Amino acid sequence: MKVLLTGAAGQLGQALQRLRPNAIDLIACDRQQLDLSDESELRTAIQQIRPDWVINTGAYTTVDRAESETDLASAINANAVQVLAEELAKTGGNLLHISTDFVFAGDRNQPYPPEAKRQPLSVYGATKAAGEEAIAQLLPTRSLIVRTAWVYGLGGRNFVTTMLRLMAERDRLTVVWDQIGTPTWTDSLAAALWQAIAQNLTGIHHCTDAGVASWYDFAVAIQDLALERGLLQQAIPIVAIPSIAYPTPATRPAYSVLDCADFNRAIGRDPLHWRHALAQMLTQLATN
Ligand SMILES: NC(=O)c1ccc[n+]([C@@H]2O[C@H](COP(=O)([O-])OP(=O)(O)OC[C@H]3O[C@@H](n4cnc5c(N)ncnc54)[C@H](OP(=O)(O)O)[C@@H]3O)[C@@H](O)[C@H]2O)c1
Repeated sequence: MKVLLTGAAGQLGQALQRLRPNAIDLIACDRQQLDLSDESELRTAIQQIRPDWVINTGAYTTVDRAESETDLASAINANAVQVLAEELAKTGGNLLHISTDFVFAGDRNQPYPPEAKRQPLSVYGATKAAGEEAIAQLLPTRSLIVRTAWVYGLGGRNFVTTMLRLMAERDRLTVVWDQIGTPTWTDSLAAALWQAIAQNLTGIHHCTDAGVASWYDFAVAIQDLALERGLLQQAIPIVAIPSIAYPTPATRPAYSVLDCADFNRAIGRDPLHWRHALAQMLTQLATN
């Protein structure tokens, strides 16, 4: 099976390459090799490679900067996705597209099921929602949209690597406690995505690790587990603050836990609790 991967240098792209099943012929393209903002390059690539699947992990992911770079975010997160769906509709290929909890408003207090209404609060969320809508229109029966959340992994820019750097540099940290979600390790997500492709899953699904946390809880766990592994030398105080005390250009959902039950059932997955996944990732980091 021939699979074309976009955004290969990203944290999820790297994990998908590390965990590639042997039977997959993977053509992994980073931004230099395949620029999602170049529509004609994208159309030519699909027509020439004619992949059985495209896994689209490439995205404009700088959530705050998207508020002022709307056109670029839209070109990558919405228009490129539309182009992929149009070309795959012609070639007969399938599309696995990665989307986000930020398509939701975050005003519930129960996990979001896949069919919940999209109501993005930010430009990033709106562009990702537009990408999803294009797929639903253009490639409804040969597409799989997997929304995930709070992703971190080795070799990526993410909350875990940022916290480890700040915990080593500073003598105190403040972290918000009133945004709730589920931290998700790239490697558990990538393994689930390969499984979903093997089973030809279609539709809209949710995939995160198990459990819930605030960013504050996540930060405390990072410090505890990093200290145990010698990744940090000393503990610093971590102070919980409300989001209102840490204003950002983009508004984030207050509660964006995703209900992954259907997806887990469909692929026979028993997800790791996020703290156990974090422990595994930090062990890898400490022994690398
Ligand atoms: N990170 C999260 O917390 C999170 C949460 C929910 C959903 N997601 C979704 O999960 C997917 C993977 O995210 P990630 O965490 O792996 O993000 P990431 O590490 O930021 O990777 C995204 C990749 O996309 C590439 N890219 C940006 N513009 C491009 C372009 N014009 N053409 C081709 N590639 C381009 C980036 O290239 P450069 O390295 O050159 O910038 C980067 O390698 C994305 O669809 C994202 O929306 C992420």
